[in-house]
Amino acid sequence: MKDAVVAACELLRAGDVVALPTETVYGLAADAFNPEAVAKIFTVKERPAFDPLIVHIASRGDLKDVAVVPEEIAAVVNQLTAAFWPGPLTLLLPKQPSVPDIVTSGLPTVAVRQSAHPVFRAVCKALGSPLAAPSANRFGRISPTSATAVMKELGGRIPLVVDAGACAEGVESTIISIEPRAGKKPIFRLHRAGPITKEQLQEYGRVEKVKPSVGEIPQAPGQLASHYAPLTPLILLEKPEDFVPEEGKRYGLLSYTGDEDSPYVTMHEWEVIEALSPGSGKLAEAAIRLFFVMRQLDEAGLDGIIAEPVSETGLGVAIMDRLRRASIRVAE
Ligand code: TXA
Ligand code: MG
Repeated sequence: MKDAVVAACELLRAGDVVALPTETVYGLAADAFNPEAVAKIFTVKERPAFDPLIVHIASRGDLKDVAVVPEEIAAVVNQLTAAFWPGPLTLLLPKQPSVPDIVTSGLPTVAVRQSAHPVFRAVCKALGSPLAAPSANRFGRISPTSATAVMKELGGRIPLVVDAGACAEGVESTIISIEPRAGKKPIFRLHRAGPITKEQLQEYGRVEKVKPSVGEIPQAPGQLASHYAPLTPLILLEKPEDFVPEEGKRYGLLSYTGDEDSPYVTMHEWEVIEALSPGSGKLAEAAIRLFFVMRQLDEAGLDGIIAEPVSETGLGVAIMDRLRRASIRVAE
């Protein structure tokens, strides 16, 4: 691991990009304070300049280097970072002028988190600078939860992928902004559901959803309707009866448990069935496997991927959010 950290730092110091594991998904990292290096992230990912990046800091104390914490929310930011950092919670805060505009797509706010992954943390600490890092996939595609998936997405475009095995969470960090309220708990606007659940956040504030906007340019960045999309069309069902197969087409099922008695499993002669949480039906396992299973099905040469819904509680909210966005297609 030490060699990989040294190699990653050398490249980052030279203004290059490197794919690194985080506890959520693999990220494509560059020195956040080097605008030319950050520009490479956008080029490599084919990411539009209007979609801002998350800045990852090495320690809680580094927050002040990238963000300004307004007095009215200082206490709750302290509580949240004490409770959930290092970990998969991203906070939207007013940015420090020193953060290059390219990182935030010109927005006055910056998205910040501290990753819990030992390799990511080691690189960030050794570099001595925060890392801007989006998920290491081509824009709009399935996020990578292994080094192999990064290679499939970006192989040949980047000088180094640090392989630390599969990611422990499997879906991207929860993103919130904070609105103070006099005499009451603050409002947390949920910009993206993730591993830190509404139920966990509710102890510190009132959680409200940000409505996704449909169309080219999002009203709130991060809210692009179509995202995490396989190349094969994906249909998310509400109930088994909603599936109307077309004659002669080959379909694969993205099942929750894969249980042979499940109505989703029995309703059709599937070409292939992939289960998110085989047998037991656990949301944490389903989240870890979600992008891996989506990628498997995408590579199976099917005409359609049919996804079974999961219950929308806890981590199920993030899973359903990813499945919904994977099912929306925009003309290319
Ligand atoms: O778990 C994660 O968050 C992973 C790992 C690598 O840290 N990163 C990740 O980055 O998912 P990315 O770029 O794939 O998603 C970041 C999201 C984007 O949807 C972006 O629009 C949103 O965060 N975002 C970034 N800065 C923002 C800002 N200032 N205001 C609103 N949304 C912002
Ligand atoms: Mg992404």
